[in-house]
Amino acid sequence: MSSELMDSFCLLRLTVTLLPLLNPCLTRLTPRVSFPMGSPGRRLTCFSSHDLSNTTTLLLSADGEKLYVGARDAVLLLDVGHKDTVLLRSKLDWSPSEKDLEECSMKGKKMADCPNFIRVLQFFNSTHMYVCGTFAFSPRCAYINSETLTMSLNTDEGRGRCPYDPYQRNTAIIVGEELYTGTVADYRGNRPVISRHLSEGSRVDLKLDDTLGWLEDPTFISSKFIPHEEKIYFFFSEVGREYNFVDKFIVSRVSQICMSDVGGQRTLQRRWTTFAKAQLLCQDGSELPYNVIQDIDLLPPAEGTSVDDILFYGIFTSQWFP
Ligand SMILES: *[C@@H]1O[C@H](CO)[C@@H](O)[C@H](O)[C@H]1NC(C)=O
Ligand SMILES: *[C@@H]1O[C@H](CO)[C@@H](O)[C@H](O)[C@H]1NC(C)=O
Repeated sequence: MSSELMDSFCLLRLTVTLLPLLNPCLTRLTPRVSFPMGSPGRRLTCFSSHDLSNTTTLLLSADGEKLYVGARDAVLLLDVGHKDTVLLRSKLDWSPSEKDLEECSMKGKKMADCPNFIRVLQFFNSTHMYVCGTFAFSPRCAYINSETLTMSLNTDEGRGRCPYDPYQRNTAIIVGEELYTGTVADYRGNRPVISRHLSEGSRVDLKLDDTLGWLEDPTFISSKFIPHEEKIYFFFSEVGREYNFVDKFIVSRVSQICMSDVGGQRTLQRRWTTFAKAQLLCQDGSELPYNVIQDIDLLPPAEGTSVDDILFYGIFTSQWFP
């Protein structure tokens, strides 16, 4: 869900209507991409608050009862288990100090971009979440108790885990208490990296070797875990160097890394050895391709079917007719 400009948000509960089987004309439905508020048969429950803005990260609990929202300078826990209301259960305020804000603006950043925009919000273990924010262009991460929203005393430096600049896109997923991220890892925003953090014991944190040009000015979209393959997939778009005849041709990609990766020898120490990427091409016949991935979601296999029956749904636009 793209929610950059949303100050409130609404939950849509779909009521399944059986298509009339008798009249074949009625079953030829076209997909609907919007509907007016208050449409009969579609319940829309909204939540808003005057001090809530930039709600960029959402995380739903496994039972669908709790929705965590990462916003500007805050993390919210909403109760979404009721039919007609969304209730605020708790709120964690997490903002940079006056001094941090001053430093941010002294470095030439706009005050409006210096708050802490929450950009990573993931379940870590059964009691805690891991959360990162841009924090006045000096990203920070912390553990937060998922019930009480109380924050750990110590925060981690967020380099490589969360962007500095709130306008840069990133992706993050926690699997096995390790954090896999795609983001830019520097203040200026030109060192993109896919990396693993929070590894423990004999496992080390890993990243891409950025001297090899593995990533070409990417826009990170999403990351998904495929359990039976023990792989993480990253989805992004980037400049397609293989098409150097076209000026800045954008290519959508899927890339993989294996969870079992522990890095290589010598120059490959602390570097991925299982990274690979491929092009995702969405094209209808000879039309210009829809080359820019915007979002992706995963439909797990239905119960009783093969684990390989995973479906990915992607939304693509075109760089020529946006
Ligand atoms: C935060 O929200 C405001 C108001 O909707 C918007 O103008 C601003 O661009 C947003 N900031 C970021 C970093 O997304
Ligand atoms: C979850 O992780 C947090 C942060 O490391 C830790 O304090 C907590 O004890 C862990 N909870 C469980 C159930 O292991």
